[in-house]
Amino acid sequence: MRYAHIIGWGKSLPEKVLTNDEIAQMVDTNDDWIFARTGIRERRIAGDDESTATLALAAARAALETTDLNPADLDLIIVASCSPEHIFPATACLVEDALGARNAGAFDLSAACSGWIYGVSLAAQSIATREIDHAMVIGAETLSRFVNWEDRTTCILFGDGAGAVILGPSEQPGGVLSTVLGADGSGAHTLALPAGGSRMPASHETIDNGLHKIRMDGRKVFRFATRVMRQATIEAVEKAGLTMDEIALVIPHQANMRIIESAARGLKLPEDRVFVNLDRYGNTSSASIPIALCEAFDAGLVQPGDRLVTVGFGAGLTWGAAVIQWVAEPVPERRWRNRVRAVLYLLARIRSGLRRFWRRVETWLFRPPAPGA
Ligand code: ACO
Repeated sequence: MRYAHIIGWGKSLPEKVLTNDEIAQMVDTNDDWIFARTGIRERRIAGDDESTATLALAAARAALETTDLNPADLDLIIVASCSPEHIFPATACLVEDALGARNAGAFDLSAACSGWIYGVSLAAQSIATREIDHAMVIGAETLSRFVNWEDRTTCILFGDGAGAVILGPSEQPGGVLSTVLGADGSGAHTLALPAGGSRMPASHETIDNGLHKIRMDGRKVFRFATRVMRQATIEAVEKAGLTMDEIALVIPHQANMRIIESAARGLKLPEDRVFVNLDRYGNTSSASIPIALCEAFDAGLVQPGDRLVTVGFGAGLTWGAAVIQWVAEPVPERRWRNRVRAVLYLLARIRSGLRRFWRRVETWLFRPPAPGA
């Protein structure tokens, strides 16, 4: 039997920090209210030269550095995002090009904050069925670009960042043991970015009415979240043939401390078995779980053999949970390997530039035959 293991992980966060006090200078709020209601103290905000693709790329490179793989070893790149670089082309294709992952298929996945779990589920099954060997699953967001900075009920919540994992095959039992995915489109209106799609293309009117910004009914989302976080965790653990006692750590989507605490209470989990970092990053949507996974590992909270649950919810409405048995340890850092990768990234840029140039020459040389010719 073939198992899909996490063999690499990396994250990328913008340097710019936006504190609650700074938000309090923009809208009628304060640090005490935000922290008491959400658990958030500060979040990261993308700089002018950063975007979803640049953060995704940086996380992807960091993940490759924890493995002995080269970009050409990747067979699949999935970018989960609800703030992608464009409606199309996919952000995953931009990452593929910049990495030089010339053997990889690449696509974006839209399941909001549950997106990374959806991606892991698809990638793990593709590996287990021998369809592919190595997959990169990235969660990347720049939601700060879609937040209404005059709406105090939403602008306090979100932050930017990206996290990536690499999944690879092994005959050793472990890795992704089970996944549970769910959706309830009857709640689509409770959390949405109404304009910019085919229903409401961009117009002066949509811009004047702020319809390109996040709209949310916080209370409804809150109630939904507390229910599905607990339920999805239990379902995934049962599906893996385990009990909650055998779970070393739960890594929940970092949306709101009260949602996390409520789910933990429902699961009878003590504080030290639930990972939290939302005080520093806020809700980074699809990036929140892979960023938290990296930090939990770096903090020594995840040991080889440990079983983890990652669980999330988001717009759609969607939810998902995955039980993962951790077996990997980062390969020892070797400078020469990073130098080789740096050369490969340079070659990827040259290759990309040459391809663009050749495409122009080709269009000039080979015109399509005229109709009827
Ligand atoms: N500062 C001060 N007061 C505020 C603020 C603020 N930033 N925001 C709202 N208030 C006020 C409200 O106006 C309201 O006042 P009122 O009673 O006079 O009407 C009062 O505080 C209480 O408001 P509630 O909405 O009831 O506050 P609640 O405790 O529900 O917290 C929150 C609001 C934090 C948004 C919460 O509902 C929440 O976290 N919901 C879930 C959000 C979430 O997780 N979204 C997932 C997004 S993921 C994705 O897919 C992109």
